[in-house]
Amino acid sequence: MSLLRLPGLIDPHVHLREPGGTHKEDFDTGTAAALAGGFTAILAMPNTQPPLTDAASLGLAKLAGRSKARCDYALFLGAGSENAETAGAQADQTCGLKMYLDQTYGPLRLDDLASLQAHVRRWPAHRPIAAHAEGKSLAALILLAAQGDRPLHVCHVSLREEILLIRAAKERGQRVTCEVTPHHLFLSELDAPAIGPGRSEVRPRLATQEDVNALWDNLDVIDCFATDHAPHTLEEKDGPKSPPGFPGLETALGLLWTAVRAGRLTMDDLVLRMHTNPRRIYGLPEQPETFVELDGEAEWEVRGAELHSRCGWTPFEGRRLRGRVRRVVLRGRDAFEDGRVLAAPGSGKDLCS
Ligand code: NCD
Ligand code: ZN
Ligand code: ZN
Ligand code: ZN
Repeated sequence: MSLLRLPGLIDPHVHLREPGGTHKEDFDTGTAAALAGGFTAILAMPNTQPPLTDAASLGLAKLAGRSKARCDYALFLGAGSENAETAGAQADQTCGLKMYLDQTYGPLRLDDLASLQAHVRRWPAHRPIAAHAEGKSLAALILLAAQGDRPLHVCHVSLREEILLIRAAKERGQRVTCEVTPHHLFLSELDAPAIGPGRSEVRPRLATQEDVNALWDNLDVIDCFATDHAPHTLEEKDGPKSPPGFPGLETALGLLWTAVRAGRLTMDDLVLRMHTNPRRIYGLPEQPETFVELDGEAEWEVRGAELHSRCGWTPFEGRRLRGRVRRVVLRGRDAFEDGRVLAAPGSGKDLCS
């Protein structure tokens, strides 16, 4: 068995569901899933209950992280219609401002131009704005960010037109970066029936095979691979109003490593997008004595019931993947080994505090 050594992976888009949704996931189970997937740092999204839009709600999440997180993390502040004036005061406690311009899970949605402009103008330029912005919203936001000359990070790009719009903005010299999820690289709308009507609900939706091909063809425009780990329980997914979202922390590396083995990308492409770029974009500190040992040969079958995530299911059920995480060392300590999470709750560090 030959083990490959990778740097600790960083996932810049994770939903931990705490506070308010801990039956789906919490800081403990979400960071256990992260370590099992080879991630030593994750950036947590603010669409919780309550959403993280002020010092009090951010404080609740920070308190939970301090006692429960097993890997390192940082939190996004959420952009609401009421907090454009006050958000900046929280900037240094967070990794960035997250804004939702389109319909998705949770109460955070900015749809009037005035509050959008106010956030883009006022949020400190040394912390990125990360955005859920699809189609026309993306075009509008790229313009506002250009006018304000401030960095913008586009979340979970899924369509051909979107990746080409970002390419064009980069070619003009705009400071825009983007991420793509493994599910938008490895699944299309054609997979939805097999996954199931409720379970295949995700935002952005699974796209056409042409869109999937366009993402692969424009790999050079993709700065990060981000899981958008969005756990919901099977009961919720199979119920009458299926909430959108897929878990992804424990399948991302296997899917992407399998693509490396198939010659679709290189190991350097992977490390750049799962470590170097997310660290640079969000200005995160290097984690000392931190690495992942991957058995690049090992073949395994994805089974939802075996995941560390509390949600207990995956859209990749039954897929055969190459590449198994054998060991994760975080700041000099064994954090994961052969299927067992060793890092204790509370041992993870808040990277932006
Ligand atoms: C996410 C969730 O469940 O929080 N759902 C999703 O389908 N991606 C929200 C989001 O990332 O837009
Ligand atoms: Zn989103
Ligand atoms: Zn998300
Ligand atoms: Zn590094």
